[in-house]
Amino acid sequence: MTTNKVVAITGASSGMGKATAELFATQNWQVYGGARHTDKIPTGDNIHAIHLDITDHADNRRFIETILKEQGHIDILINNAGYGENGPVEDIAMDKVQKQFATNFFGAAELTQLVLPHMRHQGTGRIVNVSSIGGDIYSPLGAYYHASKAALQQWSDTLDLEVQQFGIRSVIVQPGGTQSAWGATTMANVRQNLRSNSAYTDFATLLGNALQSNSKGMTATSADLAKVIYAAAVDVKPKHRYFNSLTDHLQVTIARTFPVIYRRLLINVLRRSGKQRTK
Ligand SMILES: NC(=O)c1ccc[n+]([C@@H]2O[C@H](COP(=O)([O-])OP(=O)(O)OC[C@H]3O[C@@H](n4cnc5c(N)ncnc54)[C@H](OP(=O)(O)O)[C@@H]3O)[C@@H](O)[C@H]2O)c1
Repeated sequence: MTTNKVVAITGASSGMGKATAELFATQNWQVYGGARHTDKIPTGDNIHAIHLDITDHADNRRFIETILKEQGHIDILINNAGYGENGPVEDIAMDKVQKQFATNFFGAAELTQLVLPHMRHQGTGRIVNVSSIGGDIYSPLGAYYHASKAALQQWSDTLDLEVQQFGIRSVIVQPGGTQSAWGATTMANVRQNLRSNSAYTDFATLLGNALQSNSKGMTATSADLAKVIYAAAVDVKPKHRYFNSLTDHLQVTIARTFPVIYRRLLINVLRRSGKQRTK
């Protein structure tokens, strides 16, 4: 039996957004999944697929208006859609940088602005923002991705303080490396973003190969992350941050608490693999 609990999930056509939509559906929620590839959003009696490009103002308005028209309320908004516009800081064209922020940050901000008046009116609501451990840790070729996720985190923490008085919470989930389409998209972007005769071609190739071999050892699945996102959405007393593993949590803690040590460790790893000159 379905309930009248309503969740809106962005990026529901792949990876953790798709797995999260499936998990909420099994818990009898009314699930509204948004993505550009609607045909890839899971189907089911209580899953509603809506075309959504979160960089498009009209799409964002239509997404929220449709849910409110059909259900009358939204309990949870999960800002999950995102991707990695990776490559060297110097090489990535500014329109791509803007697209990175439009997707990973401004889209979430706009959907949240659209949903907040209704959540304030109902006196309850939750915004779950899927960031990354890369919102705190950083590595070469990820500058604009890291910056967009760091922005999302600062924004979410500030929002949480503003809306708690209305019974609303804004929380952050920080996945580490997870099996999904994210890695392949990000690696393809690194290649596309290198300018012709780029000074970073060798560096990007070495780092890309290392990342590819690291990703083979990745054990976290999108279904694992769906459980974490679900907990962040329904916990009566939500935590400040949600992690899938102790290792993810530890990396963030080291980077935040001991930034100089984190940087030294990173440089040592890069030096040992021949990707950083000794200075
Ligand atoms: N996988 C990892 O290792 C990892 C680690 C840390 C954080 N994350 C974060 O976790 C979130 C989910 O990633 P994932 O691993 O599940 O990646 P994924 O499999 O590539 O899925 C990304 C989702 O985002 C959607 N999306 C991208 N651009 C969009 C746009 N403009 N409008 C609407 N939807 C858009 C895609 O749908 P369409 O293409 O159909 O629009 C897709 O459903 C992202 O925010 C990502 O940054 C991932």
